[in-house]
Amino acid sequence: MNRLTIGQLKGKYPFIVDYFEQNKLDTTGYEDRTFQEYIDDFNQEYLEDWAIDREKLVGDLWEYIEQMKQFLDLDDEGSVDSLTILPGYDKDGNAETFGGITIRTSEIISIVGPTGSGKSRLLADIEWTAQGDTPTGRKILINGEVPDSRWRFSSNNSLVAQLSQNMNFIMDLTVEEFLELHAKSRMVEDMESIIEKIIYAANRLAGEKFHLETPVTSLSGGQSRALMIADTAILSSSPIVLIDEIENAGIDRKKALEILVAEDKIVLMATHDPMLALMADKRIVIGNGGVVNIMETSEDEKDILLDLEKIDAIIQGLRDDLRSGNTLQFNDIGEVMGKCMMDAQEFLKAENW
Ligand SMILES: Nc1ncnc2c1ncn2[C@@H]1O[C@H](COP(=O)(O)OP(=O)(O)OP(=O)(O)O)[C@@H](O)[C@H]1O
Ligand SMILES: [Mg+2]
Repeated sequence: MNRLTIGQLKGKYPFIVDYFEQNKLDTTGYEDRTFQEYIDDFNQEYLEDWAIDREKLVGDLWEYIEQMKQFLDLDDEGSVDSLTILPGYDKDGNAETFGGITIRTSEIISIVGPTGSGKSRLLADIEWTAQGDTPTGRKILINGEVPDSRWRFSSNNSLVAQLSQNMNFIMDLTVEEFLELHAKSRMVEDMESIIEKIIYAANRLAGEKFHLETPVTSLSGGQSRALMIADTAILSSSPIVLIDEIENAGIDRKKALEILVAEDKIVLMATHDPMLALMADKRIVIGNGGVVNIMETSEDEKDILLDLEKIDAIIQGLRDDLRSGNTLQFNDIGEVMGKCMMDAQEFLKAENW
């Protein structure tokens, strides 16, 4: 922070202008200098006349910024570059054998494994930035270090945004009021257009559209999930996004993932869905409560992903037909089957069968 210029500081923390005013510091013309450089420019006489203590002035400024950040619940966006998971124990108490995994910004990691194997548990370890104090004994590091306790125990966990499976709104607000509250707490400037953007994104994911005046309690399961995904992607400044089984929400899961990943975040998602799993850069395989393997999505698997997407588009089409009360037709499926047969024939020819 002490390397930022006064101009950069003012841009990032607009409230420091008050600090300058309170301390009668005129920083005009010093926008491209650091605060230290500005203070160093004062001559001795001036310092003595005004009884200015340089060190205290600098120390107090950093303290002021820290306090205001906590008060306003701001976190330094982009200040999280990596998340590390260190091994713990499986359900039988055997030590996990992976040597730890570090995930960086813009990476997507999927978590796969049988039902009940511990996928949600791993997400919870990350959410609580476990320090050997959860059933798995794992430890979570942020930027290679044990994270700040402010993150661990703040009521409004700003490190992690969690999209959990069971989401129920209990407050008596309209969608607009809910988004306004959230936008205000994030101090966004252009509130109206941000809210528009969220509604638009949410409605791209959900089936039947909802509006600003819709009470949040009357949103369906899928609609509230869609709203939370759009809200998380657009408004939340949390650098880490945890997703537990997006596929069962009845929303367009591929679009949902695209929206979430568009911003520079670390994304971990537990899934049983091969298409989502292969969209990730890597996958963590869980069994009996422990990490049993960490695999990179290979080029061959990425090819499979292309086929899966085609198949998925067809299933999505059938689902839409079902939802709209149409009679399903065989044409679409027939086409895919035909294409698969042709691919197989070409493969056999190439292999000289
Ligand atoms: N290493 C572990 N040590 C002790 N308990 C564990 C461990 N890992 C997971 N568990 C416990 O096992 C149970 C099932 O785990 P979890 O809910 O994470 O499964 P899951 O993989 O998410 O299953 P699903 O696919 O059904 O969502 C939970 O009670 C969890 O706390
Ligand atoms: Mg689970």
